[in-house]
Amino acid sequence: FPGFSGGHGKLTHAAVPPNRKDAIVVPRGYEQGVIIAWGDPVEYGAPKFDAHKQSAASQAKQFGYNNDYTMVLPLRNDRKSLLVCNHEYTDEYLMFPTGKYDLATQAKIGLAAHGMSVVQIERVGHSGQWRRDRSLSRYNRRITATTKFEVTGPAANDARVGKVAYGTFGNCAGGVTPWGTVLSGEENFNGYYDVTGSVPAEYVTSYKRYGVPTTVTKSARQWSVVDPRFDLTKTPTEVFRSGWIVEVDPYDPRSTPRKRTMLARLKHEGATTTITADGRIAVYLGDDEKGEYIYKFVSAGKYDPDNRKNNFGLLDAGTLYVAKFVGDGNNDSLYDGTGQWIPLTSDSTSYVEGMSVADVLIDTRLAADKVSPTRMDRPEDIERNPVNGRVYAALTNNDKRGGAFALDEANPIGTSHVRAKLGDPLTEKAGNRNGYILELTEEGDDAAKTGFFWTLFLVCGDPTAQETYFGGFDKSKVSPISCPDNVAFDGSGNLWISTDGNQLGSNDGIFTVPVAGPNRGQVKQFLSVPFGSEACGPLISEDDKTAFVAVQHPGETDDATFEKPTSTWPHTDKFPRPAIACVWRRDGDRVGS
Ligand code: FEO
Ligand code: CA
Ligand code: CA
Ligand code: CA
Repeated sequence: FPGFSGGHGKLTHAAVPPNRKDAIVVPRGYEQGVIIAWGDPVEYGAPKFDAHKQSAASQAKQFGYNNDYTMVLPLRNDRKSLLVCNHEYTDEYLMFPTGKYDLATQAKIGLAAHGMSVVQIERVGHSGQWRRDRSLSRYNRRITATTKFEVTGPAANDARVGKVAYGTFGNCAGGVTPWGTVLSGEENFNGYYDVTGSVPAEYVTSYKRYGVPTTVTKSARQWSVVDPRFDLTKTPTEVFRSGWIVEVDPYDPRSTPRKRTMLARLKHEGATTTITADGRIAVYLGDDEKGEYIYKFVSAGKYDPDNRKNNFGLLDAGTLYVAKFVGDGNNDSLYDGTGQWIPLTSDSTSYVEGMSVADVLIDTRLAADKVSPTRMDRPEDIERNPVNGRVYAALTNNDKRGGAFALDEANPIGTSHVRAKLGDPLTEKAGNRNGYILELTEEGDDAAKTGFFWTLFLVCGDPTAQETYFGGFDKSKVSPISCPDNVAFDGSGNLWISTDGNQLGSNDGIFTVPVAGPNRGQVKQFLSVPFGSEACGPLISEDDKTAFVAVQHPGETDDATFEKPTSTWPHTDKFPRPAIACVWRRDGDRVGS
């Protein structure tokens, strides 16, 4: 399991100021470099990338588009590792020279540009720098939107789903299991389906609850032009084979990846794991949409550290829960209270009236609605801190909070202060625009328990705005932060946060914050990502020498075109390329110091 040194690393790095540069900006004493970018070779035989000569066959062997979740897993020595990441979606207007490819060709390239990559990387010298291993190891692998998957768990026996599915797409964040497999969440799957006629009446309620079209609709990419399974009039059950957590074994390049139905069907953000006090596996799950819920799965079986294969079925049997938050009132000047994990179903018994086990897993949102959990502001990455045992959740934003979604103590901000662009004054806008970091303390620090305490650790935004809160730390000494998306921890348990959609007029970035000690709540910007991009990952290496960052969609702005991109990062061509980069200290010391 990616280990933790448990050291006492202080976060002494200089704060990177908010900026609009088309570069990765790092603190003094740090270096940064690209490891692998869109189009770089992954599988044997991949041709050299040429934006003007793209093909689906080439793309299926090359690094995909819009890298998001990033995990690095060890190989036999500390000089080589496996980088595993997913490719969430495509930006056709940044990928294709206008008019050069017809819709069908774009669709075929797009199918191949989605999915996941496994790539061997190597350390540069003894530093914290990593680069792609140009020898293209036997582990290197592309998974695309057409790769064959095995469907497992209770919903695989349901006729709506079945035991085989093709492809993964819309993959957002993820997680790693103690047995070294990678989990990846299928998020905005609803946007990939066309409807050319009608859809079956019995599916309309389900479709609507997930934002799947029910009347004639052309999706952005129109994949149904090349594959009828993306036409819900022709293949109405296809949508039930997406929205799952997938599990990939990067150590076995010939293995069939799996869709784990016991982990619910949602607009999955990620799936992070921890081990309960009695040795079982808990998985935290966010459903990233305004007003959706936070979920947890606890396995029935125990983790076996001595036999890897004994763990391969653990995610197929156990109990799925959804979270309800109750505030303790505002007299204590804190947004905090208690909460409950409400059971929805086990692998054999449904706890939701009128719904079978398969119903609950396939239509998890509809099942959860019946037990009145708390509607949250876009629950994204949720992860347990291995040092203090608390669970941290990023709640990105919700411009409808205080409007369509009522305020409550766990979702208290209905008016936020934002900037149109860097340097502009703060202006007031409706809703929770800047997001929160929520901290959960489960009963007995045991992930198997169903009761917890919670507090809003950060109410993000510009620290000069009255509504913000930084864990009680002096607000004159913190960096502005907006729209937290992904979370990670270093070996000392410090929290690292990446952002998506900064509402304060500057580029997104990665931020550090101690969760304990006198500096608890001192948010500092560690890096900023290039213009128009979102910071994904982040990941701190086991030896704390490297911070990995996935730069997703550089140049994604309303006025960008292929001929006139608003970013050209990483500046290898005239157009932007999503890429995974790493950041290290020039003197080889711990990142964050
Ligand atoms: Fe793909 Fe929830 O961000
Ligand atoms: Ca309170
Ligand atoms: Ca995300
Ligand atoms: Ca995001």
